Amino acid sequence: MICAPFPYFGGKRTIAATVWSRLGTPTQYIEPFCGSAAVLLAAPRPASLEVIGDANGFIANFWRAVKHDAEAVATWSDYPVSHVDLGGRHQWLMAQRERVAAELLDPEWPGDAKVAGWWLWGQCAWIGSGWCDWNGKAPNGNGKIPALSTLGNGVHAAGQVPYVSGAGMGIQAAGRVPQYADTGRGVLAAGRIPHAGNAGRGVQAPGKIRRAPEQLTLWTSAGATAWWWLQQIAVRLERVRVVHGHWDRCLNAHYGGGETAYFLDPPYHGHGGVYGETGQTVQQEIQSWALANGSAYRIALCGLVGEYDLPGWEVVEWSRGKLTYNGGATTELETVWFSPKCLREQQASLFD
Ligand SMILES: C[S@@+](CC[C@H](N)C(=O)[O-])C[C@H]1O[C@@H](n2cnc3c(N)ncnc32)[C@H](O)[C@@H]1O
Repeated sequence: MICAPFPYFGGKRTIAATVWSRLGTPTQYIEPFCGSAAVLLAAPRPASLEVIGDANGFIANFWRAVKHDAEAVATWSDYPVSHVDLGGRHQWLMAQRERVAAELLDPEWPGDAKVAGWWLWGQCAWIGSGWCDWNGKAPNGNGKIPALSTLGNGVHAAGQVPYVSGAGMGIQAAGRVPQYADTGRGVLAAGRIPHAGNAGRGVQAPGKIRRAPEQLTLWTSAGATAWWWLQQIAVRLERVRVVHGHWDRCLNAHYGGGETAYFLDPPYHGHGGVYGETGQTVQQEIQSWALANGSAYRIALCGLVGEYDLPGWEVVEWSRGKLTYNGGATTELETVWFSPKCLREQQASLFD
């Protein structure tokens, strides 16, 4: 199990174990609002068929590109945190949207590693919402220059061990390496994390993580961290399909009953703006779909307390104990609804 390599608003790492205790080990797993894919990455066992998707093309492109060429994405993300360049790169990235969206329609397209690497770099350095809003206006030369985190986040944060529950972490912390979901913060297993010089030690099967080529020169420690981290993720994504677009593009279930599991984590009511949404919400669609399909599939649906009305579904309330959305005003209690086809608590503990 691997952590997501960038901080993400509303990331579900904290609740992932509870989700999997109810979803079990399905044959098919579908996550149409994947964001940082924290729940997929925390799966106890990969399903035979896995599909993740997101309406944000930068996100979809990131997962595609990491799956196909993690080393190139890491190399493009290898750059010091710089305020001036953040503005310039933001502008460049926003200008790539039309092309990337068109390419993503081809399920075989391997993603654009430069777009993915630059996006990752900024995602870890930018404070608050607004980094590469997929639906946002293209910035002009006078556009807002974003605030920079002093430490950097994600793979670009210095001296800290990343953990997904704390937004503002990721590849940018010097010395940070990805931790495994179940070992807890700071348990970084010497021997578990592959080293550039002796790739393939520890839990990483020899041969799966490639040795850093002699000629590969990484500029920052964040780049080196990303190099290790993203390759582990690439191994995990080997058979995962990445879809771009509205959530219903992912809904193709091949199996019924307990064999197909959906993890639905749409933007919470009133909070779509942090993902660049301009007003229309998907909650209504989700409510109807969930009512119609809850008896057929294992479905875990996230929202704020009272957001959905799903009779017969198990309701698990939880709180991350801090702001749900960075700089927002909510510490609201969150909820996961589990469809009647899910494992119940007793079965879930047997499953554990
Ligand atoms: C709450 S976040 C998901 C967080 C994710 N579970 C994680 O752990 O990082 C919601 C995601 O849904 C995406 N999204 C918003 N509207 C969507 C839509 N109509 N179809 C698909 N994805 C959408 C957003 O871009 C965002 O990444």
